[in-house]
Amino acid sequence: MNPIEIDTEQCILCSSCIEECPNNYLYLENNAIKTCDKGCMECGHCYAVCPKGAINMANYDCRDEPVVSMTEIDSDMLLTAMKSRRTIRKFKQQPVEEEKISKILEAGRYSPTGANSQNVSYTILGSKQKEAEEICLKLFRRGQKVGSPLSSFLKRIDIDDNFFFKGAPLVIVVSSKSNVDGGLASSYMEIMAESLGLGVLYSGFFVMCTKMSRKLKKLLELEKGHDVVSCMVIGYPNVKYQRIVPRKDLKVKKL
Ligand SMILES: Cc1cc2nc3c(=O)[nH]c(=O)nc-3n(C[C@H](O)[C@H](O)[C@H](O)COP(=O)(O)O)c2cc1C
Repeated sequence: MNPIEIDTEQCILCSSCIEECPNNYLYLENNAIKTCDKGCMECGHCYAVCPKGAINMANYDCRDEPVVSMTEIDSDMLLTAMKSRRTIRKFKQQPVEEEKISKILEAGRYSPTGANSQNVSYTILGSKQKEAEEICLKLFRRGQKVGSPLSSFLKRIDIDDNFFFKGAPLVIVVSSKSNVDGGLASSYMEIMAESLGLGVLYSGFFVMCTKMSRKLKKLLELEKGHDVVSCMVIGYPNVKYQRIVPRKDLKVKKL
């Protein structure tokens, strides 16, 4: 099915869709906008730019939602809030509301992906959170005993029962074929979580375990070709920071 449908009654032939398309999928012929046989990446730019709403994307839920510019957000406030964001390792028991989870996932859905693949998946550990953490605990505690490059590090740390998820009420595992796509989605989600009063820990140690344990991979029911990109441990923070942390100087080169 052609992913783009043009309502010829509505279309005023302004060509803004043609100019906007990054793939030259649309063209003007005999006083009508036409589409090529292939090459559409379904990015929706033509749909978004059309002044008459003459484009429909049949495979999608087209809601005609109005846009809001990021300029509505004060940039100084945004930057200070971004600098104030901290990794959270202490969480309250309070559960995360379903609407907040939906908003976090929606933020991930709208992050950019290479060639608009939209191939990022989200797994809420839910009823399997404890089981997943136990698999990881076993793996790391065993690693403390045997001699491996990781063991000297593991021997130095205290692996308590909440080591991976810190007793947080929500864990979302982000998986993708692309680390960049999955990473960007995670970052969007983190910012949304923060704006909802939640805190996030990226559990890199959990991601490490997914590379080592087949049992854990099976539990996650990952899609074919997908790898775990991030593990987002989320909940209400039980810590308050008084000031912004210092950072190393920027490494910027201007060529
Ligand atoms: C990819 C990634 C993996 C991380 N993994 C862990 C982890 O497993 N455990 C942990 O306590 N912190 C983890 N962190 C948090 C970092 O230690 C933290 O981001 C860094 O110390 C800077 O602190 P800040 O996030 O508060 O600015 C991870 C962060 C990232 C980006």
